[in-house]
Amino acid sequence: MNQNELINHAKEIRTKAYTPYSKFQVGAALLTEDGTLYTGCNIENAAYPVTCCAERVAIFKAISEGHQKFKELAVVADTKRPVPPCGSCRQVMSEFFDSNVTIYTTNLDGETKTFSMDEILPFSFASSDLPEEQK
Ligand code: THU
Repeated sequence: MNQNELINHAKEIRTKAYTPYSKFQVGAALLTEDGTLYTGCNIENAAYPVTCCAERVAIFKAISEGHQKFKELAVVADTKRPVPPCGSCRQVMSEFFDSNVTIYTTNLDGETKTFSMDEILPFSFASSDLPEEQK
């Protein structure tokens, strides 16, 4: 699957976002190393902090189906600049993405900024920072 196809999957799932509170729809499309696609949209809640972002929905779907090796993630929203993934999502990405996984952030105008995992969350807290017995 090429970059445009992955972004189109993110755009498509974005329309399924459950956003009665913010009305801000986000879509994410995640490609595993073996070519399996997982998509996610943001899912809000009346208890606002319970909301789950599109990126995390896609990653959690993949993890729960047994995939832990990833290649690329595309994220899209209707923003002026390519949508920046939130800090919590970057931390979840860093748990599962190797430093060379590619992240395409984009908007509905087709502007895209591309990052490696290392670029989007440098100096991230990792299991290697935990004491030996907690790894
Ligand atoms: N949102 C995402 O889905 N991903 C992000 O990286 C940024 C924020 C969602 C959460 C909430 O439903 C809405 O966008 C407004 O913050």
